Amino acid sequence: MKTLLLNPVKNPDALGQAAALLRAGEVVGMPTETVYGLAANALNPDAVKKIFEAKGRPQDNPLIVHIADVEQLQGLVRTVPETARQLAAAFWPGPLTMILPKADCIPDVVSAGLDTVGIRLPSHPVARALIRECGLPLAAPSANLSGRPSTTTSRHVRLDLGGKIPAIVEGGPCAVGVESTVISLIGQTPRLLRPGGVSLEQLEKILGKVDIDRALREQIGDDVQVSAPGMKYRHYAPDIPVTVVCGDPERTAAYITRHASLMAGIICFSECAFQFDLHERRIIGAAEDVQTQARCIFDALRAFDPVYVDEIWAQCPSDEGLGLAVANRLKKAAGFQIVNVV
Ligand code: TXA
Ligand code: MG
Repeated sequence: MKTLLLNPVKNPDALGQAAALLRAGEVVGMPTETVYGLAANALNPDAVKKIFEAKGRPQDNPLIVHIADVEQLQGLVRTVPETARQLAAAFWPGPLTMILPKADCIPDVVSAGLDTVGIRLPSHPVARALIRECGLPLAAPSANLSGRPSTTTSRHVRLDLGGKIPAIVEGGPCAVGVESTVISLIGQTPRLLRPGGVSLEQLEKILGKVDIDRALREQIGDDVQVSAPGMKYRHYAPDIPVTVVCGDPERTAAYITRHASLMAGIICFSECAFQFDLHERRIIGAAEDVQTQARCIFDALRAFDPVYVDEIWAQCPSDEGLGLAVANRLKKAAGFQIVNVV
């Protein structure tokens, strides 16, 4: 299959063509402010199945449904709790996904058989324009091959899914760079299922107490029931083993210098980069600059070529703010192979 690159800046009909494909039950790569998504009509099970096929995604991992306006929420969920209204007012449009009780119109293949659905209102103008143009809620996971790092440029999407999908809409590099925060509003207390573009501290300001799912902290075995099924799979993984080193940046740099082989690729903070002049290295920003780290992390994880690099060592950001999401993606890429330097 030939994959079209549809650029709304160069081609005034790009969104019209993408919307026509979506209405016809096809899948389309779509930019969002977090990462690129692989979108299909959320109300058409046959269209949604094509997402799973193109990505090689396990069937038990549910998809997020994207809307362009808060009013579109009605009809997709059974109830909208007060907490959801507060979060929508504070963070939508933006990188927050809320898990809510699903309405009957959401097919089982979207929710992976759960009676809940994740809903997100993205802020990327191209994503919102596309949802409005086709007039449909769009189911969209990240537009990467299952298990690989998420995609933050159209080029990443083409490298993973080119030839497997009919079109990718160009929207430039993603401004946030890590996926949306996933919060479940199903139980008594809101529960953080995945840290992301909205920080835990920001959520706590609105909600007070937020429980944290244990899948965030540790590797979960296949036999364990988890709240966000996606959290149990090895994820974001390059084809090269990764070790994440946590602690004060100077100490983690020193630790990596002592332990990394000459064939190691290094993911490091800009202040420490000079220590790795002899290595293949990717700088993800200054140690304090979690925004830049978030924007760079998936590109860094994709950057190393197994011909030249046989292991990857990464300096880990602190857990504060957006750092929690960046650290989580690195730890998952490492299959929770973590060193704590004290
Ligand atoms: O930023 C994002 O969220 C991107 C862009 C494209 O919007 N999408 C994304 O989708 O990251 P995906 O499928 O790669 O990750 C969705 C996560 C998975 O861990 C999935 O298990 C969880 O959200 N999830 C989706 N629906 C759920 C539900 N009903 N209950 C619990 N977890 C759910
Ligand atoms: Mg994903």
